Amino acid sequence: MKPILKTDIPVLKKLGQGKVRDIYEVGENLLVVTTDRISAFDVVLPDGIPYKGAVLTALSTFWFYLIKDITPTHFITSDFDEIARQVPAVKPYKDQLVGRTMLVKKATVFPVECVVRGYIAGSAWEEYSKSGTVRGVQLVEGLKESDQLKPTPSTKAEKGHDENISFEKMAEVIGPEPAKELKDRSIRIYETAHKYALTKGIIICDTKFEWGTVKTTGLNRIKPDNPLNQLNPVVEITLVDEVLTPDSSRFWPSDGYFPGKSQPSFDKQFVRDYLKVIGWNKTPPAPKLPEEIIKKTSEKYLEAYKRITGQELA
Ligand SMILES: Nc1ncnc2c1ncn2[C@@H]1O[C@H](COP(=O)(O)OP(=O)(O)O)[C@@H](O)[C@H]1O
Ligand SMILES: [Mg+2]
Repeated sequence: MKPILKTDIPVLKKLGQGKVRDIYEVGENLLVVTTDRISAFDVVLPDGIPYKGAVLTALSTFWFYLIKDITPTHFITSDFDEIARQVPAVKPYKDQLVGRTMLVKKATVFPVECVVRGYIAGSAWEEYSKSGTVRGVQLVEGLKESDQLKPTPSTKAEKGHDENISFEKMAEVIGPEPAKELKDRSIRIYETAHKYALTKGIIICDTKFEWGTVKTTGLNRIKPDNPLNQLNPVVEITLVDEVLTPDSSRFWPSDGYFPGKSQPSFDKQFVRDYLKVIGWNKTPPAPKLPEEIIKKTSEKYLEAYKRITGQELA
C-alpha cells in the first residue's frame, strides 16, 4: 500500500495541518484525517509509513468505545460510509479518506497536554536518576529504570514546546476546576486502559491526552430539535485528539518486562535509532529513510494494533 502524505479535499475548508493530521471543517464538526506522515524529534520526515494513519485511527476508535463511560469524547464515527452519509460531499474522496478519517465534534482545545505515567522511563527516568524527582515531584528512593509507579499525572505547556509545567501553573492557565477534571479523568482513562492492555500482553508505560470544551445542551442529546436547547447551553469538558496510540504512548510487550533496564517499545524506535546512527542533527530537512526501516516501522504499528485489539487491521 502506498502511503498518503497529504490530503486534498477541495469541497471542504482545510482548517489546518498538524505534523500527522489534516483537519477539515464540517459545520460544528471536524474531519480529522490521519495521514501516514511520521515525525521524529518534532520534525516531519519526507517518507510516509504504510498503514500508520489507518492504525492510529482504528486504535483511537477502539479506545473511544472502551472508555466512553469515563468521559465525553469528541468521537462521532470513523466509519467511512457513515461519514459519507453525514457529509455527502466527501463521497468522491473515498480513496484518500477511507480508514484514516474520524468525524469529531469541534472543540476549543485547552493549551496543555496531560501526561500520565505508570512506569518510570525516558526523560522521567533521566530526571529521577539525577535528582530523585519526576517533573519536580519527589519520589521514593531506590526506584529502578522501568519500575511501576502509582499513575502519576503531569502537564506540558502548549504543544511543540515540550515544556513541563506544574499542576498549579495549569490551574492558573485553564482554571482550577477544569485542571482538576483533566487530571482526574486522565488518570482514570490511563488506569482502565492499562488494566485492559495487560490482558493482551501490553504494558502502557505512559501516555498523553488532549482535552477541550464543546458547547452542547443538557437536552439536545435526547431531543436535538427541542427549542428549549437554545436556552440551556452547557460547556462540556471533552477528550479530543488521538488516544492511546503508539504516537501518543509508550507500549511495551509484557513478556520480557524486567525493571532495571530500558524496555523495547512499539513506537518509532527504529526510526529514532536510525536517525541517531546516521548522525542527523535534528534540524530540518530530515533525511530519507531506507526501505527496510520503513517496512519494520509499519510492521510495529500493525503489531501494536493487533495485540491490543486482538484483530488484524481490516
Ligand atoms: N475535537 C477537536 N477540536 C479541535 N481541534 C482538535 C480536536 N481534536 C484534535 N484537535 C487538534 O488537531 C490537531 C491534530 O493534528 P496533529 O497532526 O496530531 O497535530 P500535532 O502536530 O499538534 O500533534 C492538534 O492540533 C489537535 O489539538
Ligand atoms: Mg498530535
